[in-house]
Amino acid sequence: MTAQLIDGKAIALETRKALRPRVEALIEKGITPGLTVIMVGDNPASAVYVRNKEKASQKLGMNGTVLHLPEETVEEELIALVKKLNADDTVHGILVQLPLPKHIEEKKVLNAIDPQKDVDGFHPVNAGKLLIGEKAYVPCTPKGVIRLLKTTGVELSGKNAVVIGRSNIVGKPMALLLLQENCTVTIAHSRTQNLSEITKQADILVAAVGKPNFVSGDMVKPGAIVIDVGINRVEDKLIGDVNFDEAKEVASFITPVPGGVGAMTIAMLMENAVEAAENYAAK
Ligand code: GUN
Repeated sequence: MTAQLIDGKAIALETRKALRPRVEALIEKGITPGLTVIMVGDNPASAVYVRNKEKASQKLGMNGTVLHLPEETVEEELIALVKKLNADDTVHGILVQLPLPKHIEEKKVLNAIDPQKDVDGFHPVNAGKLLIGEKAYVPCTPKGVIRLLKTTGVELSGKNAVVIGRSNIVGKPMALLLLQENCTVTIAHSRTQNLSEITKQADILVAAVGKPNFVSGDMVKPGAIVIDVGINRVEDKLIGDVNFDEAKEVASFITPVPGGVGAMTIAMLMENAVEAAENYAAK
């Protein structure tokens, strides 16, 4: 069998297009959706992501701003900036690009963001709301994965879903979102024993490990939907967590890297930012 490709790039483009009228309606009301991204230091990968976020928001007619702070920035300064943006009525979404330099405690900074402006969905208030099934800002990558799964037309309810990875940004929220879709969810991670026996039970397999080609074809259940969240730079190429060439022979649907989940993440960030501006407008 050769799997059908889930074209994240095309789906992301459609998603972003669908946001246009919502942005225009806000602008007509005199509210230009404002997304401010803070980046500390010069991590080259982060610089690319941040620039893409800025470009995507500006393309939509939003007020996309990137604030670059030097590597030496101290925690107090960064938190003071976040608080200033919290109080700024022209800023509806705030995103602090991770990772932060080691001398800054990420948790303290994320906790300082107003939950209503937390378009990343990383604040404990939003994480807690997601846990108990209340309306919340949902982290962009797992939110994008659910959208991609829905485009396959495959019924998610009742399916066995296995998520490999337990990070706060991807693995845990991914598992909760799949649970909301009535999947039977297993979270596997670096200490999991007999991993391939578990992954072979998965109708939906989400790999968020951060190791190139970690998931081999023989770990995939025939007919499974395989979602590859990994973006690993190997020499000058981007490689997923899934061995694509092997898995595509076994799966029914599969996401490529690049052009799969990554493209969707920015589209979901745009959606969260528009939602934040709409919520502000409704106040
Ligand atoms: N670094 C890598 N991915 C992300 C993300 O989704 N949000 C933030 N804030 N930082 C990241």
